[in-house]
Order: sequence, then structure tokens, then C-alpha cells
Amino acid sequence: MADLKTTYMGINLKNPIIIGASNLLSDMENVKKIEEAGVAAVVYKSLFEEQIELESLQIEEQIEEYSERNAEMISIFPAFKHSGPKEHLNKLKELKNVLRIPVIASLNAVSKDIWVDYAKKIEETGVDGIELNFYSVPSNINKTSYEIEKEQIEILKNIKRELSIPISVKLSFFYSNTLNVIYEMGRAGVNGFVLFNRLFQPEIDTENQEYVYPVQISCEHENKLPLRWTGLTYGNTDSDICSSTGIYTGKDVIKMILSGASCTQSVSTFYKNGIDHISRMIKDINSWMDLKGYKEISDFRGKLSRKNIKDPHFYERTQYINMLLSNETIIKKYFAI
Ligand SMILES: Cc1cc2nc3c(=O)[nH]c(=O)nc-3n(C[C@H](O)[C@H](O)[C@H](O)COP(=O)(O)O)c2cc1C
Repeated sequence: MADLKTTYMGINLKNPIIIGASNLLSDMENVKKIEEAGVAAVVYKSLFEEQIELESLQIEEQIEEYSERNAEMISIFPAFKHSGPKEHLNKLKELKNVLRIPVIASLNAVSKDIWVDYAKKIEETGVDGIELNFYSVPSNINKTSYEIEKEQIEILKNIKRELSIPISVKLSFFYSNTLNVIYEMGRAGVNGFVLFNRLFQPEIDTENQEYVYPVQISCEHENKLPLRWTGLTYGNTDSDICSSTGIYTGKDVIKMILSGASCTQSVSTFYKNGIDHISRMIKDINSWMDLKGYKEISDFRGKLSRKNIKDPHFYERTQYINMLLSNETIIKKYFAI
């Protein structure tokens, strides 16, 4: 039997499969099932600055009996009503008590002080690492990409100075030069990168002409984006790469490792296929490694990364140009025209 051990953010993992941030861990019964199914580590859902703000508004409300803003926030984020930062931090402690596998927390803040204060509070819960989720939609037309990146790197450096647990960044795909951002964040001390976050997109109900907020799970074909960027990133950073989005099967995990990942995070596949699917994924990785004669993950990690393949353009323009120059027969194979 092959050895599936790997490391992520300097944390030892028994295999490369991590449950990504989601509501999968909200129910304690699920938590035990997840560990028993064989997952290597879990990421607990993000603590959002809005939750923190809401709690301080509720405290203010008790003092001042004034709460227009509180009411507005509860109507925008109804789930936050019963989900303050105190409950969140307690839940992290509880998870650490119950689980033997590593527990990673996730934080999504806006203001510099909240980032650092809450990263410290999270560290005090005893978690093994913290994932910084920089998700935000820039809406200020005058702010340049350089300013946004500089701010994020500054926040990272501040957190790194204050914390001793490992830090990862869950990156959005929307940077002008993703490799440069990874390089700079790596220099700021990031121990791992999650490539990539999958952003919830708004939807419009045409019947009632109103906005709706559907929970959308991913599709397997979405993993081509992390596959490409894992392959491009490998060898350009000392931080571990954790590929994420659209990773549904053991075969998908193998592809990510071949392109350079140390591990992967999945959420949608477990919503769709159930928690027991983890054991199937592990079994499939094991069988493939035995078949190919690989004893350890490091035997094939990065084998097909940009750094290690004969045609480095594979990850860049070749596929695009090939498609454009393909003759009609090939195009007809894929499209109904
Ligand atoms: C119900 C649900 C809740 C999620 N909550 C969070 C969260 O709190 N923080 C976060 O960074 N990502 C969150 N995500 C995004 C996932 O962690 C993950 O990045 C995304 O689903 C892509 O991975 P997948 O294709 O395996 O689902 C959530 C996703 C779902 C479906």
C-alpha cells in the first residue's frame, strides 16, 4: 500500500484530502463522520467581519437602545443573528477538543485592526493554522490593483508578526499577475496557498425581478483553473500549494499533485456525493499509486508542472492557439455546429 502522507503549511497530513471551509462542520455528528471517513484535515467556515461588527452593534444597542444599522445588517445577513464571533471561537475550541486531525480556521475581515485582533483570538483557540480569505469585491474605481495588493501584503505581514501558527491565503483568481502576488505573499511569510477561492455570484430572478442568493456548488470542469495555476506556481514559491475548486474524485486529486499541489481542498463533492465519498477518493489514489509504482506522494508531485514538462507552453498559450488553429473536424467533435 502506498504512503499518502504529505505536508501543508508545515502541518503533517496523513493524506492530501482536506475539507474546505463550508457548513459541513456545523453539525457535530457530521464532524465525527468526516474524521472517521479518513479526511486529513478540516477548515472551519470563515469568521466574517460583518459578524464581529454585528455583535458590537448588539452590545451598543443594549446600552443605547439604538440600532438602525443592526437591523439593516440582520436583514442583509439573517444567518449572522445567531452566529457571533464568541460562538465561532467556542466552536473552534470544541472542534480542537473533538478531532485528532488538524483544524484550520478561516478569517475574512476588512479593517486592518480586525484582521490582526481576530487572527490573534483565533490562534488562542488552539487551532493548527489560519486561512486568510481576502475575498472582497473592489468597488472603488479609483483604487489601483497595486494599492489593493499592497494593502493585503501589509495585513499579512502584520498578522505574521503577531502569530506563531502557520498562515495560508485563500486566493481569489482575480489578480492581474497572480504569480507575482503569490511571490510577494510568499516573501511576506505565507506558509500555504489555496488556489483558488470560488466566489458566490449574484443571481436575478426574472419572474419577480429581484436579487436572489442561491448556494451554488461547483462542477468538476471548474478544476481546470486550479490545475493550470498549480502547474504554473509549482517551483515559484516555497509555500505549499493546496488546489481547490471542482476537485471531485481521487483522479482529480492525482492531477493536482502531478501539477504540483501538496494537497487539495474539496467541498461540493461532499455535498453532492456524501461524506463517505472521502474513503472512495483515498482508495482511488492508493490504487493508482500502486498501479504506477509510486510509493510516496513526493514521487510524482510536480511531475507535470510547468517547471518539469518538456513543453512549458502547455500551461500558457498552446492550448488556446491549438484550438483556434484546429480544423473544422476537431471543432465539430466538441461543439454542435
Ligand atoms: C455552503 C458553502 C459554504 C461555504 N463557506 C465558505 C466560507 O465560510 N469560507 C470560505 O472561504 N469559503 C467557503 N465556501 C467555499 C468553499 O470553501 C470552496 O472554496 C468552494 O466551494 C470551491 O470548492 P469546491 O469546488 O470543492 O466546492 C463555501 C462553499 C459552500 C458550498
